[in-house]
Amino acid sequence: MTRRVISELPVNARAAAIRPSATLAVASRAGDLRAAGKEVLDFSAGEPDFPPPPPVGEAVAAMVATRPIHYAPVAGLPELRDVVAAELSEYHGQRFTRAEVMVNCGAKHSLAGLFLVTLEPGDEVIVVSPYWVSYPEMVKLAGGAPRIVAATIDNGWRVTPEALAAALGPRTRYVVLNSPSNPTGAGYREADLQALFEVIEARAPQAWILCDDIYRKLVYDGYEHVSAFRALAGRSEQVIVVDGVSKSHAMTGYRIGFLVAPAPIIAAVSRVQGQMTSGAATPSQVGALAALRDPRCAEAAAAMQTAFARRRALSLAALAAIPGLRVHPPEGAFYVFVDVRDYLVGGEGPADDVALATWLLERKLVATVPGTAFGAPGHLRISYATSDEALREGFSRIAEALAELPRGA
Ligand SMILES: Cc1ncc(COP(=O)(O)O)c(C=O)c1O
Repeated sequence: MTRRVISELPVNARAAAIRPSATLAVASRAGDLRAAGKEVLDFSAGEPDFPPPPPVGEAVAAMVATRPIHYAPVAGLPELRDVVAAELSEYHGQRFTRAEVMVNCGAKHSLAGLFLVTLEPGDEVIVVSPYWVSYPEMVKLAGGAPRIVAATIDNGWRVTPEALAAALGPRTRYVVLNSPSNPTGAGYREADLQALFEVIEARAPQAWILCDDIYRKLVYDGYEHVSAFRALAGRSEQVIVVDGVSKSHAMTGYRIGFLVAPAPIIAAVSRVQGQMTSGAATPSQVGALAALRDPRCAEAAAAMQTAFARRRALSLAALAAIPGLRVHPPEGAFYVFVDVRDYLVGGEGPADDVALATWLLERKLVATVPGTAFGAPGHLRISYATSDEALREGFSRIAEALAELPRGA
């Protein structure tokens, strides 16, 4: 029996303002093509194509087999909070207590919870474009106002102090820094962070720096992730960090993220989380504990990083062989962000990045994500979280496809 609709239930203005995830839209179309029997090469993935390190699954299986699965404490299992506090204290050169660390249902949830408990209507959050798709939407949901500041390929996709200065003001609550970045892979250096901090201190001393460090363990070519606590040693009172195991240990589906913030903020996020999701799933927390504690997991994570380094090199070489494309070699993550504007001349060919991504998917069965999704039209994000063979075949299809298109002058 179909449901009788008596009156329409309206979606509220907050929800109506939220854009659907463009990355999920590509994945869904690629899935439809696959279901129709087509061999789609997926360069759109936002997650490692590796399984989690074996001790993670072993720990979860042992727990599920021998213990009842009850609610976890809202802020996380005490032993996991302690392990995270210890690892991050050492990494950042700053002592964090259990009360300053909590476990959330993914780093996405850490960020959403933080925005929810700290933003007042009209508070501005500076988001550097190209940006991870969720930042502006999360900020809006929490009643804040995203303020987009463009980084350019000429500066290695790192925002400059000048560009940042122009956007800072009395309403700035956060400056979000995602290093290495999704979608560009850009990694900030110590001097970059210090220069950005100088302008924040001068123009918006009330603002906090929010570091999304989710990709910090996936770095290449001699680049080392820089801790904002270390870079701003002695001046880092207004730094908050989000971290997790999703990317570093290929545990996206486990949904575990970490928030490191002053204790009253952690307490507030816990209160909200206690009314919305409760603690993150207990087996997932046990898996995360194994990921951070068992040395075999660090080895597996390092092997994955080595594979990504190889695929990054393979991708950069393949892209360099295609005329008219511009790329900044990414310092980290598993994406290359490609300037494709030379091929967006319209007429017979695609007029914008969305049309080009659609054309590549429908005609050559290669799934990429248009830059428009990240606030940077004219680009494509290519994820190399896929096999070497798929990358070789996919880049050859892209090269072949682009050769068919007219180019700009
Ligand atoms: C920059 C960035 N931050 C946070 C996240 C969310 O991570 P999690 O899967 O732990 O929620 C992602 C996932 O794509 C990301 O790219």
